[in-house]
Amino acid sequence: MNLDGDLKQLRRSIDTKLASILPKESPIAEPMLKAMRYAVLGGGKRIRPLLTCTVCSALDGRVEDALLPGCAIELIHAYSLIHDDLPAMDDDDLRHGRPSTHKQFGEAIAILAGDSLHSLAFQSIVRAPDISQDTKVKAIAALAEAAGWRGMSGGQCLDINSEGKRIPIDQLRSLHAAKTGALICTSFQIGALCAGEDEDSEHFRILTQVGRDIGLAFQIVDDILDVTSNSATLGKPSQSDEAAEKNTFPQLMGIEESQVEANKLLTSSLQLLCDTGIENPALASLLRQTVLRKN
Ligand code: IPE
Ligand code: IPE
Ligand code: MG
Ligand code: MG
Ligand code: MG
Repeated sequence: MNLDGDLKQLRRSIDTKLASILPKESPIAEPMLKAMRYAVLGGGKRIRPLLTCTVCSALDGRVEDALLPGCAIELIHAYSLIHDDLPAMDDDDLRHGRPSTHKQFGEAIAILAGDSLHSLAFQSIVRAPDISQDTKVKAIAALAEAAGWRGMSGGQCLDINSEGKRIPIDQLRSLHAAKTGALICTSFQIGALCAGEDEDSEHFRILTQVGRDIGLAFQIVDDILDVTSNSATLGKPSQSDEAAEKNTFPQLMGIEESQVEANKLLTSSLQLLCDTGIENPALASLLRQTVLRKN
């Protein structure tokens, strides 16, 4: 099978696993469960679990060992999108080409669905078969760090607080590194942990660096697409950053320069992987897709 075929197959395994870990019935919280399934199973590129599984296999680990921990990161990501779209945050009505979760289920249920996905993520790592307790604790710690006040939520706070003001480009780099980069970086780290890598190993250090750079490039491209693409392609509103007076890369340095920075981060990451002997065609192809994507 070719590389794209392998990644499609992996994406299908991720979708199947996500569908299996989401609860189906509850005597007390039926609408919230529906909202959780709607938010997670309604679409998405699955870049984070794809990275976790591909990094694990690039380090000679077993893809199956990284599947549940990778899905855990996707659950945190899905919760972050539900909350990101709320009227109190970005106030966006469309996600994955459908009404955002709060438009479909109401704000209260959407908030609660996000809360429950957050908890389910950590439970999913606890339940992962075939990885050691030690690896689970390290993966849980890494995910908590990436999701919390120094990571995704902290970055979202700075994003919201910077609306309507201009911040320096280096502060925007820190904002993007936190709100988006942290979860992407931890996708690399958890993939490495599932392959049995120690946190002080050279491979772990290099993959953390690559994860940071690809995470930043990912959000730069998200900012560019918001300006250059359209809602039908993105499945979410375009031109929404300018309307919300967000700080973005195109806004602060122009579209072309932003693309140059994203491309540089991709090239240096691919080079770094080669130099360190993590030359894996599937991982290289996934990194290219992550940065050179159209949606
Ligand atoms: C969108 O992330 C939000 C950002 C962090 C930029 P993705 O583009 O990975 O969202 P889906 O899951 O594929 O829709
Ligand atoms: C969101 O960034 C990052 C998250 C932590 C969810 P954006 O607000 O730019 O993401 P989109 O464009 O709505 O997907
Ligand atoms: Mg946002
Ligand atoms: Mg948004
Ligand atoms: Mg965006």
